[in-house]
Amino acid sequence: MRIRTLSALLAVMVASGGLAMGLAGCRSLPPSKSEALWTPEEARGAQVFHRDCARCHYPTTTKGLHGPGLQALTKLKAMPSGAPPTDERLSRVILNGHGLMPGTALEQDQLNDLLAYLHSL
Ligand code: HEC
Repeated sequence: MRIRTLSALLAVMVASGGLAMGLAGCRSLPPSKSEALWTPEEARGAQVFHRDCARCHYPTTTKGLHGPGLQALTKLKAMPSGAPPTDERLSRVILNGHGLMPGTALEQDQLNDLLAYLHSL
């Protein structure tokens, strides 16, 4: 009985600690790379983003539009779905879609440019 109460208490502490860290995490996200510093690859990726992604995602804030804001996406431990933001996972989400997000058919070089751009956010 006593142990149960203790572990319930522990669970609450862990949950609220996680929440506080989550909130602090939002405030301390690193800023996106400035446009003036983009490599040619990142600049081409930004064009792909504006053509295929911008109607549903803000790039430089975590505020949601139709999908989550993508600021600092690749610097996070986990994306909104909980999956780590690896290039492999990102490529799969982009090409095949995920949940309510439709897939986008991209050539390999466009995908590479887009990934470079996402890393700059
Ligand atoms: C029609 C709207 C729409 C378009 C266009 C769109 N997305 Fe999404 N995106 C969404 C929605 C909605 C989600 C949340 C999906 C879910 O988990 O149910 C999402 C989720 C994501 C995620 C998070 C995946 C995760 O595992 O949490 C990433 C990254 C992402 N989109 C990137 C992109 C990129 C890059 C493009 C352009 C190639 C794009 N999206 C185009 C709507 C869109």
